[in-house]
Amino acid sequence: MTRATILIGSPRKNGSTRILAGEAERGLMEEGVETETVFLNDLTIRGCQACYYCKKNDVAACAVQDDMQRIHRLIQESDGLIVATPIYFGGVTAQTKIWLDRMFPYIGMDLSPKLPAEKRVSFIFTQNQPDARLFEGGMRSFIFAAGLSGLKVKDHLVAYDLDAGIKPPVTEKREFMDRAYQLGRDLLG
Ligand SMILES: Cc1cc2nc3c(=O)[nH]c(=O)nc-3n(C[C@H](O)[C@H](O)[C@H](O)COP(=O)(O)O)c2cc1C
Repeated sequence: MTRATILIGSPRKNGSTRILAGEAERGLMEEGVETETVFLNDLTIRGCQACYYCKKNDVAACAVQDDMQRIHRLIQESDGLIVATPIYFGGVTAQTKIWLDRMFPYIGMDLSPKLPAEKRVSFIFTQNQPDARLFEGGMRSFIFAAGLSGLKVKDHLVAYDLDAGIKPPVTEKREFMDRAYQLGRDLLG
């Protein structure tokens, strides 16, 4: 049985990010993949404390004992990951950035990856601005940094012109719903 973890970086339980992540989950399930969805906002995760425990001991493990330990376990047990986040101020949300910083144990000092290369990752970004390219720089650097861990980047979706409760709901944007579903189906394919 293959497994995938879906990390949601939006504080909203029913926002556009969650809805699109749900479509990706549907695609994964269609492919027979077992899924687990985690709202980063529900967890207590401190930022990286820069203790360098992982570097000094050359281990892919973190000394900080908080809810990130659960995410580390899930990543290790998963074949793939989907990270879904809104864009806040041109980059990912603080919850998502903390997750990224805490991926430090998977990156060697020489930038060598510590995760097995066969693990896949795809990304879903949502934003309210109608120009999909506006925050490309922020997304690109986030994707690059996440990939340094050894996660193999498969795909990313930028869903734009979305503002839950203010603009038309993402459920009416067939193109994004279909893309998110396909992103899920293709993750481990
Ligand atoms: C604090 C904050 C900052 C935001 N910054 C941006 C931004 O820089 N660019 C943008 O296009 N949308 C921005 N947005 C809008 C959200 O990215 C957009 O509405 C997204 O779809 C929200 O996802 P959700 O419905 O899952 O919460 C911001 C929203 C908030 C609350």
